[in-house]
Amino acid sequence: MGTRLRIHKLTTKKQASDACAYLVCKQIIDKPSSVLGFATGGTMEPVYKSLVAEYKQRKLSFAESVAFSLDEYVGLAPEHPQSFAYYLQKRLYQHIDIPKQSIYFPKGDIATDDIAQQYQQNLDKYGPIDIQLLGIGVNAHIAFNEPGSDFNSLCRLVQLSTSTLTSNAKYFESNTMQASKGITMGIGSILKAKHIVLLAVGQSKAEAIRDMICNEQSLSCPASALQSHPNVDVLLDKDAASLLS
Ligand code: F6R
Repeated sequence: MGTRLRIHKLTTKKQASDACAYLVCKQIIDKPSSVLGFATGGTMEPVYKSLVAEYKQRKLSFAESVAFSLDEYVGLAPEHPQSFAYYLQKRLYQHIDIPKQSIYFPKGDIATDDIAQQYQQNLDKYGPIDIQLLGIGVNAHIAFNEPGSDFNSLCRLVQLSTSTLTSNAKYFESNTMQASKGITMGIGSILKAKHIVLLAVGQSKAEAIRDMICNEQSLSCPASALQSHPNVDVLLDKDAASLLS
């Protein structure tokens, strides 16, 4: 059982995402030279909005921090509007004072096994990550670690599952080709972080959340790997928590 996971049941999506942004603010205040791990996806959009607002209001500084993206679509250049590099640039990096050279992301357009290995080497050089934000897939993936992924896996290229392709189709315009492969931090890479914050909102995540928290660890539920980590906060809105007793 995932007894070590700290579960926070909040009422609204806004409360859950504000709580997530607060934990990043706290981290950067406590340690300005923090190594930060950022996720993308719909869940994280209000988090970055809230983080940017807090940054401006509290006059925080990310000048000494280093940031790493969790994953990227293979084939998409950082300038591609559906790339995760573009997402983080537009929603976060361009609004804060983090130096350009302190932002790391895997380049999807040149992604190879070697690039994935280099990304892992950079993570190991600057890491461990002080705070890693995570969303969760409806199939309980974390980053692009689909069901069946090894819990010791490191950065690598992966084939996206049908479930992920279906869930993410909404982010691609109908006339653009949807990427079917990813370059991702592995589960083992994620577990090296000192503090992990997983945010889930909405009914569509309720089953994945129940399986992650209530079931035994299993390769069929990648997020259950987090049960082995000593410092995980799980932030949920009412709908995502609806299958927890
Ligand atoms: C994104 C990522 C994914 C998403 C997950 C949830 O960087 O690694 O694991 O966190 O697919 O996506 P949304 O929030 O769009 O439901």
